[in-house]
Amino acid sequence: MRQPSARADRLPHTESDARGLRHAELIGWWQAERRDLPWRRTRDPWLVLVSEVMLQQTQVERALPYFEAFAERWPTPAQCAAAELADVLAAWQGLGYPRRARNLWRTATFITERHGGGVPADLDDLLALPGVGPYTARAVQAFAFGIDTGVVDTNVGRILARWMGRRLSPREAQRTADELVPAGESWAWNQAMMDLGAQVCTKRDPSCGRCPAQPWCAWGNMVLGSEPSGQLDPADGSAGVSTRQAPFEGSDRQARGRLLAALSDGPLPTERAAAEMGLEHDEARARRLVAELIGEDLVSAAGSQLRLG
Ligand code: ADE
Repeated sequence: MRQPSARADRLPHTESDARGLRHAELIGWWQAERRDLPWRRTRDPWLVLVSEVMLQQTQVERALPYFEAFAERWPTPAQCAAAELADVLAAWQGLGYPRRARNLWRTATFITERHGGGVPADLDDLLALPGVGPYTARAVQAFAFGIDTGVVDTNVGRILARWMGRRLSPREAQRTADELVPAGESWAWNQAMMDLGAQVCTKRDPSCGRCPAQPWCAWGNMVLGSEPSGQLDPADGSAGVSTRQAPFEGSDRQARGRLLAALSDGPLPTERAAAEMGLEHDEARARRLVAELIGEDLVSAAGSQLRLG
């Protein structure tokens, strides 16, 4: 039988009680459980932007060494803008999704030329930067500038849908996230939401029994009284929540990555490309992928050679 909640005596009576409760529970939990991550030790807008671009499609542990190396080598947009694109792409090697590196380099140039070398704080100015979408723009606003805005990545999108007990549209998810931010506490609140999603309210195995948000979580309350597998997860298909990635093995992404890895060691004759990509039996596909990489400025062709950038 379902046990009464140990927190029932603290259930809120008004919306302002509810806000106070959410804030106290989540931030209290976070102060004990927070992860010490290098991008949390800086408020430098450029470094925050670099970290958020790296974290867009990459796990925290994998991004860590890349972030530290990047921050040391190109600590300002002007320094990154002055680098060769090939060097930035080579430093990105192994992290995946190399268009992110190209976009970051273009952003560094844009910021240096149009914003006097400083990352802008305004939402529309941020959204105008290459590779910066609603998530990254708001992450920079919250984590570098302390602006009160909700940051909705896949973890936060999942949490919001579960709290509300239903799928949310992008507009609803953003509005809900914005409304939840306690005034003046955007940095801590948004970091806490991300850690809750990474450590407790996980996709496959949410630990509702030890979740600080359980008192106000619609889905958590349904799940605690039954088997989690018996309850449809409202996060499936909800705004901001990423869907399963296509298999990497045998993909275009894998073949492209192989060629970029080979070119990080120096230029190669064009005729070697198919073999480097593992596509020696599919020359047509190899040619298409090389043409795409050239079109995206990730590779250039000079004479009979291919090179990075
Ligand atoms: N993922 C994206 N941004 C993050 C952050 N600031 N901390 C931890 N994980 C993140």
